[in-house]
Amino acid sequence: MSIQLGDSLPDMELQIMGQEGPEKVATRDLFAGKRVVLFAVPGAFTPGCTQTHLPGFVVKADEIKARGVDQIICTAVNDIFVLDAWARSQNAEHILMLADGQGDFAATLGLDQDLSAMQMGKRSQRYAMIVDDGRVEALKVDPKGVDQSSADSILEELDKAG
Ligand code: BEZ
Repeated sequence: MSIQLGDSLPDMELQIMGQEGPEKVATRDLFAGKRVVLFAVPGAFTPGCTQTHLPGFVVKADEIKARGVDQIICTAVNDIFVLDAWARSQNAEHILMLADGQGDFAATLGLDQDLSAMQMGKRSQRYAMIVDDGRVEALKVDPKGVDQSSADSILEELDKAG
């Protein structure tokens, strides 16, 4: 079963890119005391993630933050070097890239998927969440395409929450 509304995110150690290179970060430190939009993509540089999903959050970042969101975080089962290069290529440096290199975070959330048939191995499902002080306030999962987990869909959720 996947994580549910009201559940706390698992406390895990993942990676971000710091000034000097990759840095370990505990999810409890990233999410504690903040309202965060977290979205997950199956893979950096894949067409849907690069042409639609990430750009939506790049363009709508200010509108999302104006609704009381402290930070926008993107996660994927990729290494931090790939995620950092992807962010730079998309002018997405204001979105924090969170590398789930082994896929442990996606699997613990129950939001992993097996893309071995596409030579991509275990990946994250495509989803977006609103996370308030580490608890899931809204969760939108896209089995196909970019719809429920889009920046526009999250803006609607933020408006509903008021
Ligand atoms: C995409 O274009 O977003 C995509 C491609 C292959 C697998 C998963 C996602």
